[in-house]
Amino acid sequence: MTTRRLVLSRGAALVGAASTGLLLPEIVRAQSNKIRVGFMLPYTGAYAALGVAIENGVRMAINEKGGKLGGREIEWFKVDDESEPSKGVENASRLVQRDKVDVLIGTVHSGVQMGIHKVARESGVLNIIPNAGVHEATRALCAPNVFRTSFTNSQPTLALGKPMFDKGIKRAVWITHKYAAGDQAFEGFRDSFTKAGGTVVKELGLPFPQVEFQALLTEIASLKPDAVACFFAGAPAVKFMKDYAAAGLKDKIPLWGSGFLTEGVLDATGPAAEGVMTTLHYSDSLDIPRNHEFRLAYAKMFKLQPDVYAVQGYDSGQLLVQGLAAVKGDVGNKQALYKAMETGVIDSPRGKWTMSKAHNPIQDMYLRRVEKGENKVLGIAAKAVADSGAGCRMNA
Ligand code: PHB
Repeated sequence: MTTRRLVLSRGAALVGAASTGLLLPEIVRAQSNKIRVGFMLPYTGAYAALGVAIENGVRMAINEKGGKLGGREIEWFKVDDESEPSKGVENASRLVQRDKVDVLIGTVHSGVQMGIHKVARESGVLNIIPNAGVHEATRALCAPNVFRTSFTNSQPTLALGKPMFDKGIKRAVWITHKYAAGDQAFEGFRDSFTKAGGTVVKELGLPFPQVEFQALLTEIASLKPDAVACFFAGAPAVKFMKDYAAAGLKDKIPLWGSGFLTEGVLDATGPAAEGVMTTLHYSDSLDIPRNHEFRLAYAKMFKLQPDVYAVQGYDSGQLLVQGLAAVKGDVGNKQALYKAMETGVIDSPRGKWTMSKAHNPIQDMYLRRVEKGENKVLGIAAKAVADSGAGCRMNA
């Protein structure tokens, strides 16, 4: 309907302008009236499902508010970043330089995020990070135009060590994909587990996105820790949990993790995920009205069950709706726009959260257990967890 109206009005402009020489300005005006929103997300590779869930969430939040931002219609752009860090700068530049987006929403992978971050800092374009937890983006390299709606990599695991120790786990092995997300998740785990009284007996890892776990599982079996803690997400998480069970470790050495391990993968993993314990800022079974409404509406719209990535996308959409409403769609009014985005409360399916000064959510972490193919909440593992924001000087 909207597209048709635009086409018709452009057609009318064509007829009227042909003789007056006004053709170009009319078309430019019609185009620039729309706000240009670019997605840079993984649509292929290990994290493809995460990218799709994020885009779904963004679109749903904006649709619920009439499908516009600050009264302006939206023109969408999309780039598949493939979770490939070496193409991060180039892909972000395509959206910023070629497509001239007003807002760049992306991405999932911490390494790729550093490419987006460089482009966002240099161009000043508004960037919403709907997943990637790389510390630097909201610590030493924080920026007024960069807002994260997800977490920092150590936030979920800062809540993991104590519940593990409280369950009698004294010696743990850590295993992860070796890149910023896994290494920074380890910092949170190491700090919280050792502070509680535990010992990390070994750190194991493999390069992203490899999934040849066999040698590492053999090593875990010989180390005989009280438990294993890990960071894996997306398709590799399915393979890791299945291989862990198939190696006969599941019933001998309990598996714990940063909660991404069990997000969006439970159908594909099946019984190998049952009983896995994690901490995260969301859970399917969170018993608050906002979560129930969200889950029903998402399942209806996309014929899919939502997960934490869908929630983070949804909150990115909500943040944009709120920010752009405050400036009536004027993205150029940066001071007022950023102020509105900094000070708002996001009424999220995960529970209400606020933005830290460094532009990262301050949020509760839940302790969860996989039961009958669902992430069940056991309680709040840590309240109002804020990242340190160490080294962030907004106007530097
Ligand atoms: C990351 O690379 O920052 C990342 C990727 C997937 C997750 C969480 C963090 O689930």
